[in-house]
Amino acid sequence: MKIRAIAFGLVVGSLSLLSYAQQPIVIKFSHVVANDTPKGHAADYFKKKAEELTKGRVKIEVYANSTLYKDKEEMEALQIGAVQMLAPSLAKFGPLGVKEFEVFDLPYIFDGYDDLHKVTQGPMGRMLLDKLDAKGVKGLAYWDNGFKSFSANKPLQSPADFKGLKMRIQSSKVLESQMRALGSLPQVLAFSEVYQALQTGVVDGTENPISNLYTQKMHEVQKNLTLTEHGYLGYAVITNKKFWDGLPADIRKQLDDALEQSTRYANQIAKMENEKSLDAVKKSGKTAVYTPTAAERTAFKKAMIKTHTDMESRIGKDLIKSIYKETGFDPAKL
Ligand code: LMR
Repeated sequence: MKIRAIAFGLVVGSLSLLSYAQQPIVIKFSHVVANDTPKGHAADYFKKKAEELTKGRVKIEVYANSTLYKDKEEMEALQIGAVQMLAPSLAKFGPLGVKEFEVFDLPYIFDGYDDLHKVTQGPMGRMLLDKLDAKGVKGLAYWDNGFKSFSANKPLQSPADFKGLKMRIQSSKVLESQMRALGSLPQVLAFSEVYQALQTGVVDGTENPISNLYTQKMHEVQKNLTLTEHGYLGYAVITNKKFWDGLPADIRKQLDDALEQSTRYANQIAKMENEKSLDAVKKSGKTAVYTPTAAERTAFKKAMIKTHTDMESRIGKDLIKSIYKETGFDPAKL
């Protein structure tokens, strides 16, 4: 009788172990933008690829549009292990204590995606991602969005038009300095709060790639958009280091492969997604879209370039110089 009970117990025990072993590993991937954006599409693509390559041993739950966490909360959630993956904008790593990422926010430092990729896809990009290790965060990849343009409820054709405007920024000291260089008043707000802040006049204007502006319906509460494309906005895909290092090696390899494919995909679609959104904004008829002349572009550059020197002590002069070297940017030639 006793032996039978033990045998029964063993069978039940191994069955439950078996079912435990078959439980997929769940990765919560939280982000703040809409699904129909470069990051939204890339996160969905990653889910598909990761679940395919791991043959269902990993389940990716994507939470878009700040439905799980807002900007600041998501960083904290990652560190305590409440979510496993994020792709915050590079402008949002200062509060984590990794100020060097703000180098990507310097106005005009990248003259297009090709320049940018020299950094994000080279050793300097890797070196920056490795700085996250000390915070218990592992940097996995860079995903593109695009170049930001300014919007407000008045035409913005010269730096003088910014005087006194309250401008929403992400939590970056470089962006703060850039907005002050234009004579405007920067205000840090979580991305999820921007639409309402614009609608109610808490802030007057903002800057974003057009895909973010359009998918958050900011164009409905901003009468004027100037295609300045003055600065870059992109993402670092990150995970909780302890979680990642604790994954079975074969799964980690499959996830790395899924990520590599997703990164290629993200960086292929980003430009096109922003162009699609620009067309949609124009078609909506709600926002006047203005393309600055060459002389107006130069005036914007001249006003904002002081941010590069003003921020040297925060980001590191050597880091800024090594990016200049990589991309061939020369502030003296503006
Ligand atoms: C913003 O806050 O404007 C962006 O970082 C949002 C995003 O993730 O693209």
